[in-house]
Formats: sequence, structure tokens, C-alpha cells
Amino acid sequence: MPASITRQIPSLLADATADTILASGLAAANGPVQLACSFSVEDVVVIDLIHRLQLPIGLFALDTGRLNEETYQTAESIRERYGVTIDWYFPERAAVEKLERAQGLYSFRESLEKRHACCQIRKVEPLGRALAGLAGWITGLRREQSVTRTELAPLEIDSAHGDILKINPLVAWSEAEVWAYAEKHRIPVNPLHQRGYPSIGCAPCTRAIEPGEHPRAGRWWWEDPEHKECGLHRPE
Ligand code: ADX
Ligand code: SF4
Repeated sequence: MPASITRQIPSLLADATADTILASGLAAANGPVQLACSFSVEDVVVIDLIHRLQLPIGLFALDTGRLNEETYQTAESIRERYGVTIDWYFPERAAVEKLERAQGLYSFRESLEKRHACCQIRKVEPLGRALAGLAGWITGLRREQSVTRTELAPLEIDSAHGDILKINPLVAWSEAEVWAYAEKHRIPVNPLHQRGYPSIGCAPCTRAIEPGEHPRAGRWWWEDPEHKECGLHRPE
């Protein structure tokens, strides 16, 4: 990426629409770009926008081996509705076998360190492979989602992954705006959302929230809010 663009990135597109962020991000990346898809409503909104704008952007998904059945069903609905190929990435078989044989199936509940170790094997390492060869990646991240996301910009340089471009088209969207779009365009929605899951993650680490709870309260609910990241977006 040219140094002149890199210098401007933090201030670029501060008030831009999602369409503009997507199109400008793709142009600035100047190479292959893919959407990272967890099959949350945010990510499906982005798929729908990409489809409408007819942008040459593919999608990949990290199959941690612990996703909910509803998430796989949503992935299939998307494949059918949009006619897209989903590039699935799995964790390294040997690393998962070693982890599960040594520590069992729920070691992530025992300490923050063990939780990070599981996320490293099942998410972070596969993400590195998914991003290799890309000039940029797109996420469904929103500032409102978490105390760890309030500073997000529409375009960022991802220094953890070789200074490629990270494009966050929904960065300024509220939850209400996401749902208004989903309803207007009748996009496929992960059924977990209707069952009280605002955030979609691995099945054993995500639960429904109670009315009034923070939207990310159901992710790693036994941890403090400042720890609720898995390393995809903030290397720890
Ligand atoms: S996480 O870091 O806590 O897991 P979150 O679930 O909020 O992230 O999702 C934020 C964004 O990360 C999603 O919009 C998506 O772009 C990406 N993402 C999260 N999980 C996955 C996954 N399993 N596969 C691909 N992308 C993902
Ligand atoms: Fe492992 Fe839970 Fe992280 Fe999924 S969210 S990779 S099951 S610790």
C-alpha cells in the first residue's frame, strides 16, 4: 500500500456510508479483499451490501470446530441465497488433538491463559492463513459492541497481519440500524439472534443474554469486559 495512503488512513472516511467505506477500502487495498464472516447479522448485512454493489469480494469463515448448529445452517442459507463460495478454514488438526488430549474439552473455562490458548489454536492461527495473500479484509465490527471497540476506524492498517488493510464498513452503525437493514432486505438471519444471542461465537463460550444486559455479556460470560476479545481483532 502506498505510504501516502497509509498516513491518511486514520482520518479517512470518518463520516462515510458503509457503501463508500467498502468501495474506497477495496480501491485503497489495491488487491484481493475478503470478508471475515462469523454469520452474525452484521456480517450478513455486509454480504448483502457487497452483493448489491457487485464488488469482487469473497468471504471466508473460521470453523473452530465448536460453532453452533444454527451458524452452520445460516452459512448454508447464505450460500444458496447469494450463490457464493465460502472459504472455510479449520484449525491445525495436530494442535487441537494435543490440546484436547492434554487438557480436555473445556480447558478454556479454567483461566484466561487457557482460554487464549484455545482461541489461538482455533481462531487466530487459522485467521493468519486466511489472510495470507490478501491485500485487505472486511469485518462486521461496530464501535458500539464493546469497551474494546470504541476507537475503531472505518479503515485501519492491520499491523498484526503484515500491514494489510482492515475495512470496517459498519463501524458507526447502531444495533437498531443493523436490524432495520436486515428487515428491509429480508436477509438470512442466524436463528440464535432471535433466541437472545446478540453476538455469535463458539457454542460453549457464548450464551443468551438477559434483558438489560450488555450485548457482549454472553461472550465468555465468566470473564471481565476488558478481556472479551479472542485475538482476531486485538492481539493479546
Ligand atoms: S470476536 O473476536 O469476539 O470473536 P465477533 O464475534 O465480535 O469477534 O465478530 C467480529 C467480527 O470478526 C465479525 O464481524 C467477523 O468479521 C469476524 N469474525 C468473528 N468470528 C469469525 C469467524 N468464526 N470466522 C470469520 N470471521 C469471524
Ligand atoms: Fe475456544 Fe471458546 Fe475461543 Fe472458541 S471462543 S476458540 S471454544 S476458547
